[in-house]
Amino acid sequence: MTSPPAFRSSRVPASGPFLQMDIAKTAARKNGVVVVDLSIGASDLAPPAEALETLKASVDDPATHSYCLKSGTQPLLEAAVGWYGERYGLQLDPGAEALSLIGAQEGLAHALLAVADAGDAILMTEVAYPSYFGAVQVAGLQPVYMRLGPDLLPLLDAVEQADLRRAKVLLLNYPNNPTSAVASAEFFQRAIDLCRANGILLIHDNPYVDLVFGGGTSPSPLCLPGGRECVLELFSFAKSFHLGGFRLGFALGNRNAIASLEAVKGPIDFNQYKGIMRMGITCLGLPREVLLRDALVWQRRAAALVEALRREGCEVSMPTAALVSCLGGPEGTACHDVRALVSLPLAAAAAPPPGMYLWLRLPGQGADDVSFCQQLVARTGVALAPGQGFGPGGRGFVRVALVQPEEVLATCAVQIVAAMREVGLQAAVPNA
Ligand SMILES: Cc1ncc(COP(=O)(O)O)c(C=O)c1O
Repeated sequence: MTSPPAFRSSRVPASGPFLQMDIAKTAARKNGVVVVDLSIGASDLAPPAEALETLKASVDDPATHSYCLKSGTQPLLEAAVGWYGERYGLQLDPGAEALSLIGAQEGLAHALLAVADAGDAILMTEVAYPSYFGAVQVAGLQPVYMRLGPDLLPLLDAVEQADLRRAKVLLLNYPNNPTSAVASAEFFQRAIDLCRANGILLIHDNPYVDLVFGGGTSPSPLCLPGGRECVLELFSFAKSFHLGGFRLGFALGNRNAIASLEAVKGPIDFNQYKGIMRMGITCLGLPREVLLRDALVWQRRAAALVEALRREGCEVSMPTAALVSCLGGPEGTACHDVRALVSLPLAAAAAPPPGMYLWLRLPGQGADDVSFCQQLVARTGVALAPGQGFGPGGRGFVRVALVQPEEVLATCAVQIVAAMREVGLQAAVPNA
């Protein structure tokens, strides 16, 4: 038996496939390959000019320079509950049902420490945003992975009674990273009912709230019946306003959960810089058209990438209910498992999935997504995120972040298909 390394607790998460990808990207660059990084969901769109102006003005204001205590976060919290009330029709108390965050990711990791004890169970999907796995490990929680149904939503009814009894948290995220699945209000209501019946906190990580198409509003569980009793919802400025590097978000929801989270954060951080919070307030006041315009950019990019893959001979299905796409050959063999619904020709399908990502299943059985991504970046410079990094249900998938213009994505599609052919993923060979 090997002894554990020095100065390392059992809470430290193991490094995953993303480290392997980082190494592969660095090696490709060293070999003179130009890397087009579609492996990270960092928006390439510009933040709103008004937001940057607010920040610049704040830097010159000495009132922003000191530590930011709770009272200093009040203007952001008032703006956040105002924004939520306008959009969802529920008036929350900014003093007790809202908390500022240094990004949704920070909020989630601390929330898990705040609301559950080591050894408690957490219900989470078998495919999820990678940092969830690390946050669960740091909090010492036992993950119970929920299988996804054909609509890519977790099969809540399939969760065992024993797991429901020992779970303290149900963790959801819609619109979803990486699958781009969306959940209806009916689904959220079922989740809320389950949580209330079992004393579970529903944490809804909602950074993609504005990445919906067609002018719709994505459902928020907090405003549904019973939501205030058992929901903690996390919002971010990273995706709606392209401010990922500025680290700002907020939590809204159940007052006990908010109080616990605030108490855990107390000894850890001093809130975000006031100038960045002022920038957030500016963002929340922007007209909705700005957000819808940007959401359309992602939609057009998703469509362009799908079109280009199809031109290369890949059968990319766009199921209308489920939002996963499959890469397959003309016979569509890769589409015959439970993840794929009806395989519709693109022209007949609904719009591409909302969100910044395309979640693609590699053709064939048991394709090694990590090795494919490593070889792809080494040969072509196109970096994708291997599905295994998104949990046990991600094996054989890749995620494409749509963070380049349409024409670049179209070129990448050609390279992706060529690399598949070279590594023997024959189902994708055009006209094979
Ligand atoms: C589901 C999900 N949650 C949280 C985050 C991180 O949000 P933030 O930048 O606000 O920490 C991301 C970023 O990609 C995400 O996809």
